[in-house]
Amino acid sequence: MSEIYAKMAEPFKIKMVENIRLIPKEERIKKIQEAGYNQFALKSEDVFIDLLSDSGTGAMSDNQWSGLMLGDEAYAGSRNFYNLQDTVQEIIGYKYFVPTHQGRGAENILFPLLIKPGQYVLGNMHFDTTKAHIELKGGRAANFVIEEAYDTQKEHPFKGNFDLEKLEAFINEKGVENCAFILITVTCNSAGGQPVSIENIKAVKNIADKYGLRVFFDSARFAENAFFIKQREEGYRDKSIKEIVREMFSYGEGLTMSAKKDGIVNMGGMVAIKEDEALFDGVRQMVIPMEGFPTYGGLTGRDMEALARGIREAIEEPYLQTRIGQIEYLAKRLDDAGIPIQKPAGGHAVFVDAKKLLPHIPYYQFPAQALCVELYIEAGVRGVEVGSFLLGRDPDTGEQLESPLELLRLTIPRRVYTNNHMDVVAEALINIAKRKDELKGYEFTYEPKVLRHFIARLKPVE
Ligand code: F0G
Repeated sequence: MSEIYAKMAEPFKIKMVENIRLIPKEERIKKIQEAGYNQFALKSEDVFIDLLSDSGTGAMSDNQWSGLMLGDEAYAGSRNFYNLQDTVQEIIGYKYFVPTHQGRGAENILFPLLIKPGQYVLGNMHFDTTKAHIELKGGRAANFVIEEAYDTQKEHPFKGNFDLEKLEAFINEKGVENCAFILITVTCNSAGGQPVSIENIKAVKNIADKYGLRVFFDSARFAENAFFIKQREEGYRDKSIKEIVREMFSYGEGLTMSAKKDGIVNMGGMVAIKEDEALFDGVRQMVIPMEGFPTYGGLTGRDMEALARGIREAIEEPYLQTRIGQIEYLAKRLDDAGIPIQKPAGGHAVFVDAKKLLPHIPYYQFPAQALCVELYIEAGVRGVEVGSFLLGRDPDTGEQLESPLELLRLTIPRRVYTNNHMDVVAEALINIAKRKDELKGYEFTYEPKVLRHFIARLKPVE
């Protein structure tokens, strides 16, 4: 079959390059020390391979770049808005939408319309800004992801699924009047970029209907989720990604989207509403003071054009095959070398289990952060900690909370790096694993109160 060749290589060629360099090891040691052992404080130019985030870091296509030239920067009624609206209606299947500057802008507009103070928002696993916006609106965030998600070594095709029994028991225990809505995050970033199955989404929708609750999506990585459904779920092999995306979203009333991921743009987001006109009226009234007039929201005309084109490119199967294939490639290299990772690999990142790799470093000395620092020193690779350092303290007692997982996230930007870069990352981690017992934990020299991990400063524990 000659089609096999199409699957062996990227479905794109490179027209423009951005040079990167690896600064010498002595300099890397100095830079990370000056950064207070916090990778967020590193300058990008001191990083060789940047796996901090897949958010806004993707490479736009020539088709998207040329769309920028067609930006209609009218204050109202930009043609790019209408093109994006057509795209949302066709691919997502929702009638109404407003653009926002990014995902958290969308959360800021939609959540106040849905949450009464004290109410719970029921999610598989809320992303940290999502949790923060729920709490800013007086709500509380509750997670119901299946137990398998917390066992990195246990294979399960849909580790982002809801535990349906726990979800229903919670609604009964707290009372439906104390629940605001259900939020399905696809893919489930915090659990390792893990997908949610259509079967599970349908079952969540059934529970929601039974109790009169509404379902919304946090849809940053919707195309990657649809690709996993096609690969792994019974009955979806012969469906197109577009059909799967439409079906997935048909079980919700609306969505927030950070378009910086599967929208493949450097900035952008949206709120979309399926058909509820009254709710959309509320959204439109919120977007004006918070983001901008409803036909541009938080975006320029050219940004909206690039996004409309990006959404279409993100659901192309050869692209998704390459994208997910690259994550699998890195995951396999690490797995073959015995480095413990969340299995199976997720859609946008490989998550290394630092609790398993560095059992001698306790959670309150942040084992995944220690690994993150070491990886930068070893090869100039920047990852990010998703564990107790990110989780923070109990707001009531001030005690450091213990995260169920201590992960180093190696987040792969879209269409940016080749598998040679993945080899560098793998080799570096394999070399670190050989001297893992020498790695030390970290403690604070400066600890801010809110979202501390972004600007905290640390030092190695002696
Ligand atoms: N929801 C999910 C699932 C996300 O992963 C993110 C961002 C957001 C919402 C917020 O979107 O950044 O556009 O305001 N995730 C990035 C990350 C920052 O690195 O995982 P935003």
